[in-house]
Amino acid sequence: MIKIAPSILASDFSRMGENVKEIEHAGADWIHIDVMDGQFVPPITFGHQMVEAIRPLTSLPLDVHLMVQAPENQIEYFAKAGADCISVHVEATNHLHKTIHSIKQAGLKAGVVLNPGTYADVVIPVIQDVDFVLQMTVNPGFGGQSFIPTTLNNIKRLRALIDEYQLPVDIQVDGGINVETAKACVEAGATILVAGSSIFQADHYEKAIAEIRG
Ligand code: DX5
Ligand code: ZN
Repeated sequence: MIKIAPSILASDFSRMGENVKEIEHAGADWIHIDVMDGQFVPPITFGHQMVEAIRPLTSLPLDVHLMVQAPENQIEYFAKAGADCISVHVEATNHLHKTIHSIKQAGLKAGVVLNPGTYADVVIPVIQDVDFVLQMTVNPGFGGQSFIPTTLNNIKRLRALIDEYQLPVDIQVDGGINVETAKACVEAGATILVAGSSIFQADHYEKAIAEIRG
């Protein structure tokens, strides 16, 4: 079962509430929320208060992708705000194992994120502890970038590791996902597809989501 997680980074910020309800109605499975701090990546987007504002508007899981330095300092805030999943970059913390465990202890799903230039095997020490691995398929920071084809090698490697250990771990992909790249990622082993521009710039959200799902 492939899950689609529209990224609200590509939504109209002045109509965030309506956009969230529209994508739920259009068949989205998760809502992907890109938190950027101006340090780990140059832009600043929004924080836990945005999650708190969206929480009452949808019953879908809120999937918080933390593109922040020292994500360990944010877990409690996002958990209290109503997040269902929190993912943290291996490149952003010195305390990966501890941070993943504090996400789990808060009762949330935990994800570990890899940039396109990061070696996939770095997740091996925590792969039994996470619910999903997020393989970035662009460099994080901006929506609307082109998919980086070499990230397919990392997806395949992650799929082999997860199958080898027989773990119930999903592979999420994020960045430049459209109908064509989604197909390639699913063939490589991805199970959760994040898509921003290809959904929010489409005329019909429902059609766009169904086509990406394949
Ligand atoms: C990039 C973000 C993505 C972004 C994807 O740093 O993590 O979630 O919103 O946007 P598209 O689908 O437009 O590449
Ligand atoms: Zn993201």
